[in-house]
Amino acid sequence: MKPKVTLMNLRQAALTVLFVSAAFTSCHAQKRTAQKSAAPATTASAAPSEAEIERKVQALLSQMTLEEKVGQMAQITLDVIGKGENRFTSFEPVMLDKAEMKKALVDYKIGSVLNTANNRALTPQKWHELISEIQQVAMQQTRLKIPVIYGVDEIHGATYTVGATMFPQQIGQAASRNRALVRRGAEVTAYETRASSIPWNFSPVLDLGADPRFPRQFESFGEDPYLVAEMGVATIKGYEGENNNIGHPEHVASNMKHFLGYQIPTSGKDRTPTYLSEEALREYHLPSFKAAVDAGSHTLMVNSGIINGIPVHANHDLLTKLLKEELGFKGLVVTDWADIENLHRRDKVAATDKEAIMLAINAGVDMSMIPYNYEPFCDGLVELVKEGKVKQERVDDAVRRILRVKFALNLFDKPTTNPKDYPKFGSKEFEEASYKMAAESITLLKNEQQLLPLAKKTKVLVTGPNANSMRTLNGAWTYSWQGDKVDEFAAQYNTILEAVQQEIGASNVTYVPGVSYKAGGKYYEEAADKLDEAVAAARNADVILLCLGENTSTEKPGDLSDLYISELQTELARKLAATGKPVVLVLNEGRPRIISRFESQMQAIVQIYQPGNFGGNALADVLFGDVNPSGKLPYTYPRYPNATISYIHKHAEEQAKAEGVYNYEADYNPQFLFGHGLSYTTFSYSDIKLSTEQLQLNEQLTVSVEVSNTGKVAGKEVVHLYTSDLYASNITPDVKRLRRFEKINLKPGEKQTVTFTLSADDLSYTNRSGKKVTEAGDFEIRIGDQVKKFTLVEQAPVKTQNN
Ligand code: BGC
Repeated sequence: MKPKVTLMNLRQAALTVLFVSAAFTSCHAQKRTAQKSAAPATTASAAPSEAEIERKVQALLSQMTLEEKVGQMAQITLDVIGKGENRFTSFEPVMLDKAEMKKALVDYKIGSVLNTANNRALTPQKWHELISEIQQVAMQQTRLKIPVIYGVDEIHGATYTVGATMFPQQIGQAASRNRALVRRGAEVTAYETRASSIPWNFSPVLDLGADPRFPRQFESFGEDPYLVAEMGVATIKGYEGENNNIGHPEHVASNMKHFLGYQIPTSGKDRTPTYLSEEALREYHLPSFKAAVDAGSHTLMVNSGIINGIPVHANHDLLTKLLKEELGFKGLVVTDWADIENLHRRDKVAATDKEAIMLAINAGVDMSMIPYNYEPFCDGLVELVKEGKVKQERVDDAVRRILRVKFALNLFDKPTTNPKDYPKFGSKEFEEASYKMAAESITLLKNEQQLLPLAKKTKVLVTGPNANSMRTLNGAWTYSWQGDKVDEFAAQYNTILEAVQQEIGASNVTYVPGVSYKAGGKYYEEAADKLDEAVAAARNADVILLCLGENTSTEKPGDLSDLYISELQTELARKLAATGKPVVLVLNEGRPRIISRFESQMQAIVQIYQPGNFGGNALADVLFGDVNPSGKLPYTYPRYPNATISYIHKHAEEQAKAEGVYNYEADYNPQFLFGHGLSYTTFSYSDIKLSTEQLQLNEQLTVSVEVSNTGKVAGKEVVHLYTSDLYASNITPDVKRLRRFEKINLKPGEKQTVTFTLSADDLSYTNRSGKKVTEAGDFEIRIGDQVKKFTLVEQAPVKTQNN
């Protein structure tokens, strides 16, 4: 009989092996293929000045016919020009159809292609061949020889390239609170995207991920506008470089999306109506886009949804007045997939396709992601201009914006890149960046009696539908749109099960799935898979590692009608807990599925989000103490489906906490708070200091706080600074708002002073007419458990949002 392992001795044994720095090299190299050595990459020329680009754009534009201009505004998907039975699929191996190419690129003069073919990843070499052929046609067989701009969704690594380095999805990146790692990830993605000859990336997602029901929350940086803006800017700088020199052969043009207010439809379901006040739109949803415009992002994609009854693709106020005039965005505005057609077919605001084109182009769209039937768009827009329904100047403005990006990308001189110039593609160095990000994103939500970290001699039962799946580690947009082809391409990386086996030896690990996702089924289809055997096996284990969550999905296919984690997974959790063995619940999910029906029976809970190809390794290192977790929730984890309010809310949501008020049941009481995340060490906060308690309008407020590591191991802590406006005259103030954060690293016993600087602008809010106000009055600053009050002594003049 095995000796009884108690919680206490597991913990003590593990502490002896605990160290903080990432144990990348030792722990997870086994399954990967041999790596190429890194050599210097391609050389870059200096970025052309804006004036130089404008001169070139003007010179070209002045030679263009209306048909050539309209062609530049059209974007088709690769299958349209792939050899195949129709426009929707291509034969394998993918080959281009010369006749279709001539029709699209030469006759219709189409200026942009997107996406992969047959919804599956291609090798860098294949990309090179295909895009070279496309560019040859565009640049040799057309009158003006304008290169095509090729765009792909490389949203957590080079999605559609075989062998590329896949990173955690954005939601996990936000949990890391590590701007440098986020930027590094984007640099690697840009490099590998260019290694595939693709210069344009439909990323980052700058939507406020404030609704846990929404099927794309994992694509966002979470529910806080400041966090989204900070991570968004880090990503854009990673893609485009510090000075946005996208002509550099290791950079790509970024695409901020989806402008604006995409992720919060009333129903929680993709592409359904949203009702959003002017105040909320500007206060919560606009800041990330404003920051991205200021950071120089070259392109933007429009929200496919409907705000206040108006499809955003037809909204002149948002696309032209707000984006182009007020924010001063000079880049290219592309539609989302088929969204001009949708104005007619789905939203019924246009009686014909042609009217839909008129609405969208007049609203401010520059390029239509058509993506299949390009003839109605091209013919229709030419006619509309001739009929005077779309002004020639509007078309010229759109084409100018498109050509600007093509020149900035240096596509006229270098229409393709060659994989042989990218020796670091899929390199160990890049994998390490992905691993580090995964390790820092993992968020320890609960750790009763310090069950974690586990000793390496622990007998573990690994179970649950997410335990042995590369697909669920990666999420959608990985080798295919819904992520359903991941297992075909990622077999060389470690699932959670494989990583745990490597970490503690296969003989210490028993694996029984208990529940499995249905292969080839809808993402929510699952079935019991040796459920009783799993429960029986638990009796022989010291600890149960229960890997739950959801299968991968995105967009409409990922819509959800019940936020609770599935019934089968709940049953598995309850039955395992009933064995009396300690359960470590690992959550691997694209959105916080509700776990309150069994959460109290779980001793430890670890959120890994969708951590990418090295997530299994990173998790094993956290579980067994090689890495001290430091992720913090980028969203609020709800406890009940009828209580999905985010941390940004009004005092009326917390009435039970207010003195003298009835003790209402339905109070703000989420499962885990935004910003929550435990460590294997403890931190204490002290000595908060403000440079003044009477702040003048044009003065800076310096705030400092002492943070100490009071535990026994080194650890990283995220220091969050929140402000609260105690009273606001125009609209009711939010309870608190995140204004700054910094991640620091402390050895045991070490203390650090963390200093932040705020200005009066950080204390402003958007009033009911959409104007920015900074009101004199009392405020509170909160860092950890440290709270300090101060007064803003002067009132600022009311401003429009962005002056
Ligand atoms: C998605 C976008 C994506 C586009 C192109 C759309 O369905 O909403 O996020 O960039 O497809 O693949």
